[in-house]
Amino acid sequence: MEILKVKGGNELNGEIKIGGAKNSAVALVPAAILSNGVVIENVPEISDVRFLEEIVTYLGGEFCKEGSKITIDSTRVKNREITLAHSQRLRASYYFMGALLGKFKRAEMYFPGGCQIGTRPINLHLEAFEKLGATVSCEDNKFVIEAKKLVGTDIDFAFASVGATINTILAAVLAEGITTINNAAMEPEIGNLIAFLNSMGAKITGKDTGTVVIEGVKKLSGGSTKVIPDRIEAGTYILAGALAGNNLKISDLEPKHLESFLDKLKQIGVDMVVNEDNIVVSKSNNLKPVDIITETYPGFPTDLQQPITSLLLTCNGESTVKETIYENRFQNIKYLQAMGADIKIDGDTINIKKSSRLKGNETMATDLRAGAGLILAGLIAEGETTVTEARHVLRGYENIIRKLTAVGVEIELDNV
Ligand code: EPZ
Repeated sequence: MEILKVKGGNELNGEIKIGGAKNSAVALVPAAILSNGVVIENVPEISDVRFLEEIVTYLGGEFCKEGSKITIDSTRVKNREITLAHSQRLRASYYFMGALLGKFKRAEMYFPGGCQIGTRPINLHLEAFEKLGATVSCEDNKFVIEAKKLVGTDIDFAFASVGATINTILAAVLAEGITTINNAAMEPEIGNLIAFLNSMGAKITGKDTGTVVIEGVKKLSGGSTKVIPDRIEAGTYILAGALAGNNLKISDLEPKHLESFLDKLKQIGVDMVVNEDNIVVSKSNNLKPVDIITETYPGFPTDLQQPITSLLLTCNGESTVKETIYENRFQNIKYLQAMGADIKIDGDTINIKKSSRLKGNETMATDLRAGAGLILAGLIAEGETTVTEARHVLRGYENIIRKLTAVGVEIELDNV
């Protein structure tokens, strides 16, 4: 098992470069099989992407990696069942449902894996496939989704689901006719996918508007894109700077993808300068409490809820965080409480009071962003904080140990 050990009390300075967005890359790699040959640049070096590359290879695709640039040749991709092991390795394995259905009119795979932060059903995905003309059967957790043909139609999402929006686009790009997705998710990662598919010859409009229109085409070929900066990785390191930084520079980011998050940091009074593609941030002592509600984009991102909770522990007063996206995304709290944090859980809301003397302790990463939040708390806790089950963190934060060590954090990884 991987265990991270963090020593508290160091000052962070220097520069952290942000990599490509995990939640973009994990959609772009499955989408590649819709074409015959694509190039994707700025791909983050994380195990989630490597797991998806394994699935594409298993299907007959060929990968060539040069640093963060990957070339995928899908001319020999065949339709095969995505195995249970492959399906359960991560949430994004389910993008092969949309991609295989779109390409071969049939997909076979199991319920996906991913962070255990709620039930995370996939009803919206399956209902969209059925509206496009597919039949969906499920036996022993295995889905078989198939269609004689896929015909474009109007699809109205009750909830602006990121995954369901992406999967519907993947299934509809080669359908006959026009598909309109109403109440589509607007996360920037979806815009990255739309640009990628359009570079292959797809006809998709409406990115960032909440209404995505896909005019089905007969064939897709070629294609290239660059993965957008990871806004959640960026937010996590900006928080590290707000906790323990001295002019810590976070670069290669896109501030406009972080507007609601940065607005909250400004309300808190974080000492930061926002530049065109970087932010310089320093610790400061008189931070103010705030109230946060997580929402779909462009609202405050649920993925920065657990990380920002660690900063709120240093604010002079009581803050609240209401989690509206997932029903079980407070699993980091008990570990923060064991470190001395004054936090109370009240249903879907946590009440956070200033907790100035955090002590390092044994903690566990229950999920990716919970683990990140515990590392942030460890930066300011007295002594050493260990984070077990650190694989959750390593799968989503590119070179996190190298990046934090380079700016002065004493952090190490043990494999036991
Ligand atoms: C994506 O998950 C991200 N994962 C998540 O990031 C992120 O938290 C989430 O979007 C919201 O921004 C990837 O992109 C791989 P959703 P996804 O479909 O697509 C419910 C991280 O830390 N729902 O928008 O699964 C669902 O249960 C991860 O990087 C249904 O009810 O998110 C959840 O409560 C964690 N039925 C809510 O919607 C459905 O069919 C959000 O889900 C689909 C979703």
